[in-house]
Amino acid sequence: PQDQLLNMTLLEGPIGVEDLVLLEPLEEESMLKNLQLRYENKEIYTYIGNVLVSVNPYQQLPIYGPEFITKYQECTFYELKPHIYALANVAYQSLKFRDRDQCILITGESGAGKTEASKLVMSYVAAVCGKGEQVNSVKEQLLQSNPVLEAFGNAKTIRNNNSSRFGKYMDIEFDFKGSPLGGVITNYLLEKSRVVKQLKGERNFHIFYQLLAGADAQLLAALKLERDTGGYAYLNREVSRVDGMDDASNFKSVQSAMTVIGFSEEEIRWVLEVTALVLKLGNVKLSDEFQANGIPASGISDARGVREIGEMMGLDSKELERALCSRTMATAKEKVVTALNVVQAQYARDALAKNIYSRLFNWIVNRINESIKVGIGEKKKVMGVLDIYGFEILEDNSFEQFVINYCNEKLQQVFIELTLKEEQEEYKREGIPWKKVDYFDNGIICNLIEHNQRGILAMLDEECLRPGVVSDSTFLAKLNQLFSKHSHYESKVTQNAQRQYDHTMGLSCFRICHYAGKVTYNVTSFIDKNNDLLFRDLSQAMWKAKHPLLRSLFPEGDPKQASLKRPPTAGAQFKSSVAILMKNLYSKNPNYIRCIKPNEHQQRGQFSRELVATQARYLGLLENVRVRRAGYAFRQGYKPFLERYRLLSRSTWPRWNGGDREGVEKILGELSACTSEEVTFGKTKIFIKSPKTLFYLEEQRRLRIQQLATLIQKIYRGWRCRTHYQQMRKSQILISSWFRGTMQKKRYGKMKSSVLLIQAFVRGWKVMEKGRGFPLHMWFLLNCLSCWGDGGAGSKSYLNLGHTSVRWRVCVRVFLGLLRVCLGVWLHAGKICTYVWLCLLARKDYRKYFRSGAALTLSSFIYKSLAQKFLLGLKNNLPSTSILDKKWPAAPYKCFTTANQELQRLYHQWKCKKFRDQLSPKQVEVLREKLCASELFKDKKAAYPPSVPVPFRGDYIGLRGNPKLQKLTGREEGPVLMAETVRKVNRGNGKTSSRILLLTKGHVILTDSKKSQAKTVIGLESVAGVSVTSFQDGLFCLHLSEISSVGSKGDFLLVSEHVVELLTRMYRAVLDTTQRQLPITVAEQFSVKFKESNVTVKVTKGPRGNGNGKLSCKKKGSHGLEVTV
Ligand SMILES: Nc1ncnc2c1ncn2[C@@H]1O[C@H](COP(=O)(O)OP(=O)(O)OP(=O)(O)O)[C@@H](O)[C@H]1O
Ligand SMILES: [Mg+2]
Repeated sequence: PQDQLLNMTLLEGPIGVEDLVLLEPLEEESMLKNLQLRYENKEIYTYIGNVLVSVNPYQQLPIYGPEFITKYQECTFYELKPHIYALANVAYQSLKFRDRDQCILITGESGAGKTEASKLVMSYVAAVCGKGEQVNSVKEQLLQSNPVLEAFGNAKTIRNNNSSRFGKYMDIEFDFKGSPLGGVITNYLLEKSRVVKQLKGERNFHIFYQLLAGADAQLLAALKLERDTGGYAYLNREVSRVDGMDDASNFKSVQSAMTVIGFSEEEIRWVLEVTALVLKLGNVKLSDEFQANGIPASGISDARGVREIGEMMGLDSKELERALCSRTMATAKEKVVTALNVVQAQYARDALAKNIYSRLFNWIVNRINESIKVGIGEKKKVMGVLDIYGFEILEDNSFEQFVINYCNEKLQQVFIELTLKEEQEEYKREGIPWKKVDYFDNGIICNLIEHNQRGILAMLDEECLRPGVVSDSTFLAKLNQLFSKHSHYESKVTQNAQRQYDHTMGLSCFRICHYAGKVTYNVTSFIDKNNDLLFRDLSQAMWKAKHPLLRSLFPEGDPKQASLKRPPTAGAQFKSSVAILMKNLYSKNPNYIRCIKPNEHQQRGQFSRELVATQARYLGLLENVRVRRAGYAFRQGYKPFLERYRLLSRSTWPRWNGGDREGVEKILGELSACTSEEVTFGKTKIFIKSPKTLFYLEEQRRLRIQQLATLIQKIYRGWRCRTHYQQMRKSQILISSWFRGTMQKKRYGKMKSSVLLIQAFVRGWKVMEKGRGFPLHMWFLLNCLSCWGDGGAGSKSYLNLGHTSVRWRVCVRVFLGLLRVCLGVWLHAGKICTYVWLCLLARKDYRKYFRSGAALTLSSFIYKSLAQKFLLGLKNNLPSTSILDKKWPAAPYKCFTTANQELQRLYHQWKCKKFRDQLSPKQVEVLREKLCASELFKDKKAAYPPSVPVPFRGDYIGLRGNPKLQKLTGREEGPVLMAETVRKVNRGNGKTSSRILLLTKGHVILTDSKKSQAKTVIGLESVAGVSVTSFQDGLFCLHLSEISSVGSKGDFLLVSEHVVELLTRMYRAVLDTTQRQLPITVAEQFSVKFKESNVTVKVTKGPRGNGNGKLSCKKKGSHGLEVTV
């Protein structure tokens, strides 16, 4: 159902007008009618421009919750029905994106729905602002401060079951992203008189009832309380329950809220103890006593109660009794103690209870602030939500109502200043045409109350501080004297002076005509309440108490701190805090919620016109609408406006050098939605009429920012990828170069060792080959040398024989032996030396092979440098780019010849491509025709070469100026492809006669030059083929297919001066229309069909030989025709 409702609310038409600016006629009556109509249809929200009017529905409407929040977050202000979420959204967006501090001013009577509105605003902001653990806990703390403050500061009144009895201003602080950081709560003047006394039908503050109803037995016992509310003098006995309010469960919520905010267990206990103390104080019974000298005094009759209180406070009950029942007057020299009579003692007791409670309330606020406070130094944006007690007119109005109404008066002033006065003055300042709208300026009433010397508050202070007898009536007399002529002040005395009779005015009363109506105040106890003094005995006693919280609430009780200086009066304090509040509000961008109470009975559906009319009147709604209607929704200085929307125009983004105003004009000039009615240029500011235009601008800006962000992202990502890629590439090159180097080194090492091995083998083998005889020679040599030894030994033995013959033999043998040795040595040593020499030579030879790779490297280097020189030379000396120029430098070395030819070919192709690219479609067509002609006739017919440089003209007879001929061709045929004068060879006698030939897409038309009727029309589909000679003549034969109608006469022999062009075009036309390739035969002899008989045409070259001369035909019998060309 929630979803259905959501859709319904989005689709339905409006009920009444959603924005009172559109109301017609603009009168009070119609405005009320509109509000009533809407209220009765459960439309409680209505706009006046950007001001939200909210009528209390007194029922839960299904228009809140996450779905609605999302919807309103996504849409702009005017897209959906008026809603408090829309207003909260505008404020939050403005805070987040325009960096403007915001305040939300919620005003209206008591019970009009201010507190509810403030809670809705807070819950909206909490739902849409940032997320995250930290942020969520801050949000929780901010939201949970509400139930705690409501428990202690709200009460049931006759007007409102949950009436705020204090003023609250809460600053929520955000960081630059719009996430909440924390906040500060300021509270204003709690209505503390309620602690001791309530009007008929009203209750004390909720917390008392919640405590009694919700605390478990153990807690109650610890606090020394009973559950029955009837047992407490401070609690109104008539009403203890409020319909629809569950005190017990609320108590649980308050306790858990306190925990969430950060109250420790101990602190929660203290707070409850102090609350209980207040309740118990009320039950302290005082009785009459008399002193010895007969002077009346007082005493406590209920000893148990006081004892319990004393125990809880950590204070001796005697001390407490003394403080309650006597008063110490300190003079310069001595201290005098006087006893208080019962009335005075009761007054002292009540004063103590009120003070304890109001100080406890302040302490709670401060404690919450401590939890939610934001660290110093953090830059923050602020959204303030003001929910202050509404304007009050009771039967008996006292000091509290006076200050409450004063505060409301000030808020009305803010509204007037910012929306009515300031706005109109601004239009005047900026030179914008404007008709003034009248409104009531309540400055005079504010002045009456707050004027520093002559205001009512100043008079009250003066009375409080004045020595001598001071009473409420002296105060009233003073007012009467001072304001006897004031138009907004009345009293019995001023009325009497003007001879007015008014029985409603009491003697001790004065009346102020507030902006919201006349209120009569009773001055009784004004002085007292303004003084707000607590007897020093009481504060000192409290300070002596051991209860840590209670003690800390009364710092002035510390004798060391005691000062004789009076604390500021309640009125003065309130005035200054209101002044601070006003300053704060003026510094922010205001958003208004004007709450209206529809009836006095808190009843749903009841709409009391009179009641609403009074509220609408004093809230100035009608004036608001009038100013709004004529005014502008938005204005901003040129500079900040330009800064914000600069990016919308190409001329102002990214740089703009002109003036701010010119820049703004430029931007708005380019946007269609910013018409001259919508925007007006003031002296220093730009004014925009409707919010629609502003939302349009914002939307445009959002889209543009997205574009720009994408651009930046794109560039950054590109850069990141590029650098990453480059790094990778570098690393890859490094790694691969190292890897390849190592691979090659290894390979080289392996190769080298293998080569060395092979070399060693080969060399060894070669040398072995050369020194194959070496071991043999060595053996011989050694053998010889041993023989030499043998010979010596033998000769010795022979010598010893002494025999001559023997000696000779021996001698010969020795000689021979010697000879053999010498020869052997000489022979073999020589061989060995040669061998050694060969080895040396071999070594020298093979050494050069160690450098064998060098030659290859060297040659490849030389080759490469030659190639480089060749290519660079070519690059610097490229031949012309004309396609006809076929010049190309020769290759400097033979080895480049093939490459050079390939380069030439490529270059030529490239030139051709270039040439082709720059051709217009028409030129392409011409070239296509020429190409076709070349395919058909090149190297086949002598008439072709002279036709090449001559452009194809098509029209050789001036067809343009001859409509008669143009008519011959059908419309659908398109343009004439060829028109020229040809000669036709007569089939019978071979004589030639002149004809005009027209070639169209589908036909060949032959006609007499004089007649306007076509002689012959031949469909191209019936042309079976064409024959031509290879000479330079223009003779050609059109062979027609058998079935053609003209075919009965036979083929045509024609002579054309542009035979190449004519046939090319005909060939193309046939191809285009019939997808058939027309066969063109080139021959000197061909057969033609004349009236069903075949005739052979033989063509010979005439004596002049070039074929250009006159053509003559001779019939040769019935089947031959000789043609000389
Ligand atoms: N939007 C709403 N939807 C439902 N009920 C509402 C709404 N606004 C107000 N109410 C009802 O009206 C009652 C009074 O509203 P609220 O307490 O906000 O008034 P108030 O203006 O703060 O009065 P006071 O000045 O006395 O504090 C609420 O308790 C609630 O029942
Ligand atoms: Mg309230």
